[in-house]
Amino acid sequence: MAEFKDIITQDTHILKIINVAKKIAASDISVLITGESGTGKNLLASAIHSSSHRGSGPFISVNCSAIPDSLIESELFGYEKGAFTGAVSTRKGKFEMAHEGTLFLDEIGDMNISVQTKILQVIETKTFHRVGGEQPIYADVRIISSTNKDLVRKVQKDEFRMDLYYRIREILLHIPPLRERPGDISLLAQHFLKAFCKDFGKKIKGISNVAMNYILKHEWPGNIRELRNIIRTAVALNDKDMIWLEDIPVRTEFAPQESEEARETSRFESLSLMEVEKIHIERVLRFCGWNKSKAASILKISRPRLHRKIKEYSLREPK
Ligand SMILES: Nc1ncnc2c1ncn2[C@@H]1O[C@H](COP(=O)(O)OP(=O)(O)OP(=O)(O)O)[C@@H](O)[C@H]1O
Ligand SMILES: [Mg+2]
Repeated sequence: MAEFKDIITQDTHILKIINVAKKIAASDISVLITGESGTGKNLLASAIHSSSHRGSGPFISVNCSAIPDSLIESELFGYEKGAFTGAVSTRKGKFEMAHEGTLFLDEIGDMNISVQTKILQVIETKTFHRVGGEQPIYADVRIISSTNKDLVRKVQKDEFRMDLYYRIREILLHIPPLRERPGDISLLAQHFLKAFCKDFGKKIKGISNVAMNYILKHEWPGNIRELRNIIRTAVALNDKDMIWLEDIPVRTEFAPQESEEARETSRFESLSLMEVEKIHIERVLRFCGWNKSKAASILKISRPRLHRKIKEYSLREPK
């Protein structure tokens, strides 16, 4: 289960949202989280649950857009044995499973009107019937909902019940898209790089300047999920010490090409003094065709010292 500290951000708007979320977490206020796909709605919902007094209770998520209309009622409220063909045993629904915890109604904007009416009733009375059941069942549930649709517009078009809208949005938390949080892009990229290096046992030192510039300029229509997946793939496929532009699969033909010079510059930023010395001595030797007197004079060191360095860094003249 996620916690607030798992939400990586330095964006002032998101920090404000987290502040509000922390304040209302303890209460049973219904929260509606809006934002484009991949902005972290699920993450925020589970963080609110974790820090509420229901944190040790269940966090049950229902993806309202993924369940066909014909199944949603039995999914939410459960069913009694024999309620319909195939109901061979009694099954609890999500409301019942979420008792003393949180029910996360994910993509609530896709729920049809008749289910909206039932949900409203359950929220108000805290009781419901399983499909085919006679006994009312009580469930003490906190509701958090999310949508990437414009619910206000849906209300105006009579596709979403206004009374349910106000019931689920006692507080509205809107997560802006990643492209409007420029400070978060590099922070998240570095965070995912570190996390996936740990997961995959890799020792990648960083992201090259050109690759990072590209990451910063990309629009990120899939938001944080897209950034996370791209860094994950780049780390998994990478056998080098840096992430280069060519490792970023979102690159298009319009992206800038990474020149050799730029690659070298980015590379040097992550090297130790000894590594830089080794590379530089090797370059100068190559430049002088391995004429050691000439190389020593360019490097302004004695020939014996150059010999010691060649030995120390195991440099060899290419055949
Ligand atoms: N601020 C953040 N810090 C770290 N990880 C994040 C952050 N925001 C989102 N993520 C990660 O990005 C991925 C997508 O987040 P999440 O599933 O919460 O998005 P969503 O808004 O619910 O997307 P959808 O609308 O598609 O359901 C997850 O792996 C989540 O952990
Ligand atoms: Mg989600």
